[in-house]
Amino acid sequence: MRFSSSLLLALSVTVFAEEQIPLANKVKGWWNKVASTVPSTPSAPVAATAAKVASSVQHELTPENWKTVLTRDPTASAPTTQEWMVFITGANATCYGFCENASQAWNESVAVLSAAPRSPKFAVLDCEKYPVLCNSWSVGPPTIYYMSIPKPLADQSAPAPTVRYIPLSRNATVTAVASNITRLVANKEYENYEPYEGYWHPFNGLLAQYGLAMPIGYVLWGFSKMPSWLPMILISLMSRGFMNRRMPQGNAPAAPAAPAAR
Ligand SMILES: *[C@@H]1O[C@H](CO)[C@@H](O)[C@H](O)[C@H]1NC(C)=O
Ligand SMILES: *[C@@H]1O[C@H](CO)[C@@H](O)[C@H](O)[C@H]1NC(C)=O
Ligand SMILES: *[C@@H]1O[C@H](CO)[C@@H](O)[C@H](O)[C@H]1NC(C)=O
Ligand SMILES: *[C@@H]1O[C@H](CO)[C@@H](O)[C@H](O)[C@H]1NC(C)=O
Ligand SMILES: *[C@@H]1O[C@H](CO)[C@@H](O)[C@H](O)[C@H]1NC(C)=O
Repeated sequence: MRFSSSLLLALSVTVFAEEQIPLANKVKGWWNKVASTVPSTPSAPVAATAAKVASSVQHELTPENWKTVLTRDPTASAPTTQEWMVFITGANATCYGFCENASQAWNESVAVLSAAPRSPKFAVLDCEKYPVLCNSWSVGPPTIYYMSIPKPLADQSAPAPTVRYIPLSRNATVTAVASNITRLVANKEYENYEPYEGYWHPFNGLLAQYGLAMPIGYVLWGFSKMPSWLPMILISLMSRGFMNRRMPQGNAPAAPAAPAAR
């Protein structure tokens, strides 16, 4: 298969504009090599190849591993900051089926960006698989959580990680989204987004500090799974219990009896 994707060429040029030709050629050669290992169907070779590259360089985050994956980096010596791009994705239930284009754009961007010098690291959080983790961060697809995570200093203290929440379009074309994703890195456009510093900050938000993020994630997830009539019934039962307890004994016997008889 030859290097035929004008999209990828365009992206490479964006990303490697600074470094000029040698790197663009490197990507090209590298791309051809990867592409030749994928049995290509003429229909979607780019998507398939990009998916393969992406899956080989990105980390999948789970409720168990996310903290270690994002903070551990044996190759970096303190004090340095490791940049992470976390793609938050989903499917029918969590993204209403509108994550396809963003997902393909992410795959293609990762394929291009991962060849760049000083590229960030890449991770994926699938809200369809791990809704509780998504709820515990209060994030929804399709978005990018751009994280700058400082390594601990010798005394194990570490400056706070900076996280930036960057929503992606649900209804744009693959090319438009991919171009936005690559520009986040290539032109440092992520700096245009204010760092998030609220309760839900995965590392130093109030909820994370008190160990409440995951429990609350479970509660929110539970609510989302609940049939819509259930909260009404629960509230009605609770308020009845409350009213009954408040009711002075023997003072108004008729009132509570009436609803109970129904
Ligand atoms: C993107 O790549 C992943 C593997 O990393 C794959 O599961 C997913 O289907 C790909 N998405 C698209 C839209 O090609
Ligand atoms: C998502 O929805 C589409 C159409 O509504 C359906 O064809 C597809 O099978 C669904 N996928 C999953 C994983 O449920
Ligand atoms: C690309 O990013 C710009 C802002 O940086 C935004 O206005 C635009 O809507 C984005 N386009 C897509 C397709 O996400
Ligand atoms: C996805 O991208 C394709 C072309 O890349 C476009 O035709 C289609 O409308 C996009 N889908 C959505 C939901 O925007
Ligand atoms: C995407 O949807 C938003 C609102 O839902 C709309 O404002 C925007 O024009 C749409 N973009 C495209 C490319 O269809």
